[in-house]
Amino acid sequence: MEKITLGRTNIEVPLLCIGTWAWGDKFFWSYGKDYTADELQKAFNAAIAAGVTFFDTAEVYGNGLSEKFLGQFIQGTGAKIQIATKYGPMPWRISAQAVKDALSASLHRLQLEHIDLYQVHWPFAFFMSQSTLMNALADEVERGRIGAIGVSNYSADQMREAHQLLSRRGIPLAVNQVRYSLLTRQVETNGIIDTAKELGVTILAYSPLAQGLLTGKYNLNSGEKPMGARKLDSRFKADGLQKIAPVINLLREIGDRYHKTPAQVALNWLIAQGNVIPIAGVKNPQQVEQNAGALGWKLTEAEVSELEQVSRPWR
Ligand SMILES: NC(=O)c1ccc[n+]([C@@H]2O[C@H](COP(=O)([O-])OP(=O)(O)OC[C@H]3O[C@@H](n4cnc5c(N)ncnc54)[C@H](OP(=O)(O)O)[C@@H]3O)[C@@H](O)[C@H]2O)c1
Repeated sequence: MEKITLGRTNIEVPLLCIGTWAWGDKFFWSYGKDYTADELQKAFNAAIAAGVTFFDTAEVYGNGLSEKFLGQFIQGTGAKIQIATKYGPMPWRISAQAVKDALSASLHRLQLEHIDLYQVHWPFAFFMSQSTLMNALADEVERGRIGAIGVSNYSADQMREAHQLLSRRGIPLAVNQVRYSLLTRQVETNGIIDTAKELGVTILAYSPLAQGLLTGKYNLNSGEKPMGARKLDSRFKADGLQKIAPVINLLREIGDRYHKTPAQVALNWLIAQGNVIPIAGVKNPQQVEQNAGALGWKLTEAEVSELEQVSRPWR
């Protein structure tokens, strides 16, 4: 399995990460309706079998259930698993002790003593300054409970500030986790990608399949409708589907050359950007197996550029 290093750390992970927001989340993803814990266990097993041993979760996903599922599933495997979870900077979390406590609770749910990556979920600074926050995280690296520190949804300037604060402690900022796909390319124009490259920060691309749109299964002919909160999202309605048809058609056309699906091509395009790890969210083993098929082959430069051109409206 080809690996990539997280920022300027010595932590190596697979080029694809498994997203587990849907693992236990009833509100957005309707966990319990079209998929169950049994399928999540099978999805986990399929990921291990495919060598995709890097999982992204957060304390808020399914109100802790996502971390709990991972904790249970990890117990049943001998494979080396790498976990990235997230700390939510809520307004009532006012001191460094809150970071320590939140990490203890996540580790307890995950049944682990150490995780590879701990990320700040959003750039909110209520009563705890970024300085207090970054220092509290640096303490945890020194304590050995986390391997690396990341941020999520941070702008270029916010990322730079976090990077500077951590560098005073001699610790690199490993990642910024941001929304990035062929249908959400703002990070290319708002300075996030350029700043990440300059600072040596790896981009973890969330919603890399545009929450299922880039699989091509939601289209004007199939009549397939998304479950959960996406029902309200205009991108999944007729007008939205019409707009993305040129992107999906090109994904299909290119995919046919390699016997690959639109999802596999869309994930491969993100990996081709370099310094980017897509986090593909999954609900069942079939989705894991398909997404893992994004690895081990490469689009040509011409194909990467064709996809870049067709998706320019989403820059
Ligand atoms: N840091 C943040 O603020 C943040 C925000 C959002 C997400 N994330 C992370 O990023 C991960 C991924 O993002 P996401 O879940 O929003 O979007 P995504 O990965 O673009 O889409 C995931 C959804 O697409 C469908 N899907 C995935 N693979 C498929 C396949 N091969 N064939 C058919 N359908 C497939 C599934 O839903 P259906 O089957 O229902 O269509 C799945 O739940 C999350 O799990 C989470 O770990 C982080």
